[in-house]
Amino acid sequence: MTRYAHLNLFVAGYGYHEASWKLAANGSQGAPGLSHFIEIARTAERGVLDSMFFADSPGVATFRTRFMAQAGYDPIDLLAALVPVTEHIGLLATASTTYSAPWDLARRFATLDHLSNGRAGWNIVTTGNPTAAANFADRAHPEHRDRYARAREFVEVVLEVWDGWEDDAVVASPTTGQWADHHKLHPPQHQGEHFSVAGILAIPRSPQGYPVLAQAGSSHEGVDLAGRFADVVFTPQSTIAAGAAFRQRVRSVAESYGRSADDIRLLPGLSFVLGSTEAEATAGWDALQAASSEEFQLFNLTHLAGVPQSLVADVDPDGPFPYSLFDSATSQTFGAAVTKVARDGGLTFRQVARQFSTLPGGLHFTGTPEGLADLIGAWWHQRGADGFTLQPLRLPLDLTLFVDHVVPLLQARGITKRRYGGGTLRDELGLPRPTNAHTRVGAAR
Ligand SMILES: Cc1cc2nc3c(=O)[nH]c(=O)nc-3n(C[C@H](O)[C@H](O)[C@H](O)COP(=O)(O)O)c2cc1C
Repeated sequence: MTRYAHLNLFVAGYGYHEASWKLAANGSQGAPGLSHFIEIARTAERGVLDSMFFADSPGVATFRTRFMAQAGYDPIDLLAALVPVTEHIGLLATASTTYSAPWDLARRFATLDHLSNGRAGWNIVTTGNPTAAANFADRAHPEHRDRYARAREFVEVVLEVWDGWEDDAVVASPTTGQWADHHKLHPPQHQGEHFSVAGILAIPRSPQGYPVLAQAGSSHEGVDLAGRFADVVFTPQSTIAAGAAFRQRVRSVAESYGRSADDIRLLPGLSFVLGSTEAEATAGWDALQAASSEEFQLFNLTHLAGVPQSLVADVDPDGPFPYSLFDSATSQTFGAAVTKVARDGGLTFRQVARQFSTLPGGLHFTGTPEGLADLIGAWWHQRGADGFTLQPLRLPLDLTLFVDHVVPLLQARGITKRRYGGGTLRDELGLPRPTNAHTRVGAAR
């Protein structure tokens, strides 16, 4: 099978930059509606991108609503609304293992997989953002280690629920009157430390067997979860060497769990602003930064790392950088990214805050389509990544420029594919279809 770079589109409202809504071309800066996302989905499919992705957090920090356009729709519902207007593109949504129930989530993603003929994917996160806890009154925000312990069992249970039906369990014989062969139904009867889940879904096994499993969290526990379960891994990496090392780390962990390292696609975040010339692209970036609120950026720096907002008030933004503040970061990856930038540059809090309008610790590009195609090609050829999670800072503008000008270059260079294969998301990513655990056991017996 020809190896191609895989491209996953991170769809964030009017673009990944917090001020993008202010520059939105069409002048309507209200909550983006379905037509906005339909246009984006169709453009992404025209670029033969593998998938589109909606991030999520079951809680919003109020300060963000003052400065940023909010489009925090339920991502699974939004993707389901895009099924009828798309044909090939994968549909990935984040869902939290800390603030969801496994049986319910298993059904929601299996439903999306059925409705889309095998294009669904779940981005597994434990939710670093402590503000979410207040929306689920029955529990305080768990510690990092506990969130991941719960996540491991959560994913196991979801897989057990997805394996509740063997692929050929449906008989549907009007003659015998039998619809399902109950010998091929396997209620999980799961009793664990965090969950007790008994029954099967009321739908047969979905087209992909398991919707694609993505994971985003680069701490030690995050990498362990990724190596154990993930097909696709999102991560912030800023150099080819760092990307290659992280890719190797995840692959080794996968092998330690008896998986094939080739069954993982590492898609680091790549944010970008494009222009037909360097000057035009730089002007685009400068316009975003100029439109951004410094007050927002100061607040957002600790929010990204999951540091309680109450601690920000005491910070002198122009004094020595408050490293100890980030000791309590609930998002280890982002916390580390922030303190690294401060330390490497000897920067103040205010100076660091100005730098985090893109993915903390991630890769950012401002420039021409040729320059971006070169960058993607270099990472891909040198195994720094298996592709990217694209984060256009202005939507739909930077996506349209990417599809019209970068994709043709990547296709001409044999880096990305020219057409969809017509199969499931797993087929597009070159990933195997997981056999049902009970079928495996049956075959072994
Ligand atoms: C490309 C990308 C997408 C992410 N999407 C989400 C998301 O939708 N929701 C979320 O809570 N965290 C998201 N994260 C953050 C991670 O889930 C995680 O909280 C963070 O990396 C810290 O994890 P760690 O503590 O294991 O290092 C994303 C991270 C990356 C790199």
